Amino acid sequence: WGQFSVTFAFEPHPAPVTASEREARLVDPAFGRVFTDHMAILHYSEDKGWHDGAITQRVSLTMDPASSVFHYAQEIFEGLKAYRLDDGGLALFRPDANARRFNASARRMAMPDLPEELFLESCERLVLTERDWFPAIEGGSLYLRPFMIASEAFLGVKPSAEFLYMVLASSVGAYWKGGARAVSLWVSHDYTRAAPGGTGEAKCGGNYATSLVAQQEAIRRGFDQVVFLDAAERRWIEELGGMNIFFVFDDGSIQTPPLTGTILPGITRDSILTIARDEGLVAREEPYAIDQWRADAQSGRLVESFACGTAAVVTPIGRVAGPDYDFAIGSGATGQLTARFLDRLTAIQRGRAPDPHGWLRRI
Ligand code: PLP
Ligand code: COI
Repeated sequence: WGQFSVTFAFEPHPAPVTASEREARLVDPAFGRVFTDHMAILHYSEDKGWHDGAITQRVSLTMDPASSVFHYAQEIFEGLKAYRLDDGGLALFRPDANARRFNASARRMAMPDLPEELFLESCERLVLTERDWFPAIEGGSLYLRPFMIASEAFLGVKPSAEFLYMVLASSVGAYWKGGARAVSLWVSHDYTRAAPGGTGEAKCGGNYATSLVAQQEAIRRGFDQVVFLDAAERRWIEELGGMNIFFVFDDGSIQTPPLTGTILPGITRDSILTIARDEGLVAREEPYAIDQWRADAQSGRLVESFACGTAAVVTPIGRVAGPDYDFAIGSGATGQLTARFLDRLTAIQRGRAPDPHGWLRRI
């Protein structure tokens, strides 16, 4: 099936990585360093629409240096994982949600819609082609990176008339060096990530480019990740550089910042809200102020906090600091509810638990 597709011609790699070399690379792949042999590619032009799709060898691109992506950053991407299930089958987790978000990002960036079925087909064909690239390690998966770039060569500022859509596959283990552990966060009071009316809810490369200096500052100060506050008041907690954030209270309720346009509508965020509500927990989508976080952590009203995303899954937060404060969350280790959400979510993703919302798409 992987070799027959209406849209994506199959052009097998003439000299794929040998099985023994592949095995060696899959022992400890870390995150986003090990790429598979093939990629998906599809072209767009205003006159032809989407055309010339292929699953082909992963090669370097030849592009005109005037291609507008290099100058005006007209680019969007997605991130989703394929899992090898306990029964040996393969599945994608909520890829339809990624397809919809991809198109929401495309519209914000004046790029063409990609029909959902092409998004799904490209991901499925690539996974089937690369079925030997799943790392057989705890937490291992095949991370897919669909993206679209503006490829028309010109220097005027206007939407490109040509685009390339591609999907890369990367064999991944845990996102964090040193595996699962509670992470420390630096709250950026200087840099913000997104302003009202900006591109915060789009998954465009520019959002990440502007987050790097803040992330760099966090690392320089000895923290794992940066937390961004809202741009208008520098008061409300928004999200991390590449993850959403949740707060857990002593009454068993949970809270996460609302989707007001400046944060990414995470699919993991939505999944955790759904799991929590299915279990009868109170799950609020309401703003939470940095001062309140600190006061609640110190009074014991706030008992846990965690970050979540496709790459990071569910990651406990152990410590938070800013220019004139530094506080621990709970005992500084993984909280009970955090561990439970991680367990519930991964059980669904691995096909070990019932999937009442039909989140797994078997391939
Ligand atoms: N927020 C940002 C800025 C991200 O880059 C990501 C990762 O994709 C997320 C949140 C989490 O989104 P998701 O759960 O859909 O991976
Ligand atoms: C993801 O979780 O898929 C992301 O895109 C975030 C990035 C930190 C890898």
